[in-house]
Amino acid sequence: MNFHIVRETGRPDPELLREIALAHLRVPSEWTPGWQESREVTEPLLKSVLDRMREGWGQENHLILTARGEGDALVGYHWSTCPAPAKRIPGAPWTTVQILGTWVAKSWRKHGIATGFKTRVEAWAREMECDKITTQVDLANDTGIRELNEKLGYRPVRIVLEKRLENER
Ligand SMILES: CC(C)(COP(=O)(O)OP(=O)(O)OC[C@H]1O[C@@H](n2cnc3c(N)ncnc32)[C@H](O)[C@@H]1OP(=O)(O)O)[C@@H](O)C(=O)NCCC(=O)NCCS
Repeated sequence: MNFHIVRETGRPDPELLREIALAHLRVPSEWTPGWQESREVTEPLLKSVLDRMREGWGQENHLILTARGEGDALVGYHWSTCPAPAKRIPGAPWTTVQILGTWVAKSWRKHGIATGFKTRVEAWAREMECDKITTQVDLANDTGIRELNEKLGYRPVRIVLEKRLENER
């Protein structure tokens, strides 16, 4: 298998954003178990995701990585942010890169793509003078992300508690 990882920083072009938003909308059930698989990706839904992606754009630095397979098809992406220097809190113990998402297409998994993404992120975090990287993983995610993080030196430091409410929708 051949793939290459393209690095994009700063403000990605609208076409790339759209491509990533579409990929993101098609696979949420993989990292958020319980998500409706059959949901249709409509233009209004896509627009709401794109609007959210653009929120706070100027206050953060972004690292977007894509992996491309044959015919330039998107086979993986990664997105991280780090606060812009003007937004950093003086005296804070850490300046943190946040991982927003990592995804690799099923047929391309276990070939080191996500490891390649995360290795790049670590180098970028150092360039940005950040001293911590955080990521969140659903406990029910059984696609290997916890093993991957563990292998790369990420350790659990916090738990998120949830209570499901039986609301009618
Ligand atoms: C998790 C995911 C990103 C891994 O991508 P990948 O490119 O296949 O990962 P890599 O090939 O770099 O794997 C590196 C290591 O991760 C671990 N790993 C990856 N997949 C695994 C699996 N299915 N089971 C157990 N460990 C796994 C292994 O330690 C592996 O090292 P090894 O190949 O030497 O055994 C991919 O499965 C995915 O896209 N999952 C769905 C989206 C998702 O849940 N993203 C995370 C949201 S928080």
